[in-house]
Amino acid sequence: MDLLMPVLRRRWSPREFDPDRVLSTDETDALLEAARWAPSAGNSQPWAFHPVLRKSARWEAVVPHLAGSCLPWATQASLLVVNLCQMYVEGTDWQYSEFATYDLGQAVAHMTIQAHSMGLAGRQFRAFDKDALTAELDVPPHWEILTMTAFGAAAPGAVRDAGAASRADSVSWPRP
Ligand SMILES: Cc1cc2nc3c(=O)[nH]c(=O)nc-3n(C[C@H](O)[C@H](O)[C@H](O)COP(=O)(O)O)c2cc1C
Repeated sequence: MDLLMPVLRRRWSPREFDPDRVLSTDETDALLEAARWAPSAGNSQPWAFHPVLRKSARWEAVVPHLAGSCLPWATQASLLVVNLCQMYVEGTDWQYSEFATYDLGQAVAHMTIQAHSMGLAGRQFRAFDKDALTAELDVPPHWEILTMTAFGAAAPGAVRDAGAASRADSVSWPRP
């Protein structure tokens, strides 16, 4: 696998971030820009992102809705991003796009790779009170919060979860 891009090999999801690392506006913009340039079915771009910088007013509003399991590391992150997906055409019960959740995942993947390319790291998570966060952010009914991502610099000495580096041999093709 020598041809695998180094940034893909390096990507991992820390559970410890450097709590003193502050992201610059350019770094935050670059993460969001990476998502913006992701492909989507019919260029439908069924995503939206709420960036929440540590110590901002929005941070104080969002953190109470995080589950206890992620508090130790999510509150060390420099930036939390709430990842939203457009599920319906506004004002209807028509599905917006068959591929909406697929496309959101792809945009978030772009963001995490962008983070690693800048010496940062991200951990995606679902450990939050979705109903409470939906109300807090006043999410319209045709949108849904699917996940969040904690971004920052991995703390020195942080280690990957046991077993997280293993991958099932799920890719097979008939080699010549
Ligand atoms: C959609 C999604 C939801 C996740 N939810 C959580 C979560 O709630 N809590 C958590 O600690 N990690 C969560 N993770 C992180 C995964 O556990 C982690 O990516 C996986 O163990 C592989 O490790 P790696 O990213 O270091 O390769 C989530 C990841 C994804 C993609």
